[in-house]
Amino acid sequence: MAQKGPYIIKAEKTGKIVWCACGLSKNQPFCDASHKGTEFRPIVADVEEGKTYLWCGCKQSGRAPLCDGTHSKL
Ligand code: FES
Repeated sequence: MAQKGPYIIKAEKTGKIVWCACGLSKNQPFCDASHKGTEFRPIVADVEEGKTYLWCGCKQSGRAPLCDGTHSKL
């Protein structure tokens, strides 16, 4: 777990992000390749400029990379 709650981030441009699944990235909630050597793999997601996204910080979401509220039960 990187944080017990989502990272709420507005996309500055349309494109792709790479979400950290392992929780080790120093650039949460995005991948910085810290997963190397672990069983985890990041998830690539499309984002639209101006839209706000709730990226899962607890890394337990059933809808990863987005928050689904699972963190409230941890
Ligand atoms: S932060 Fe992981 S489900 Fe909400």
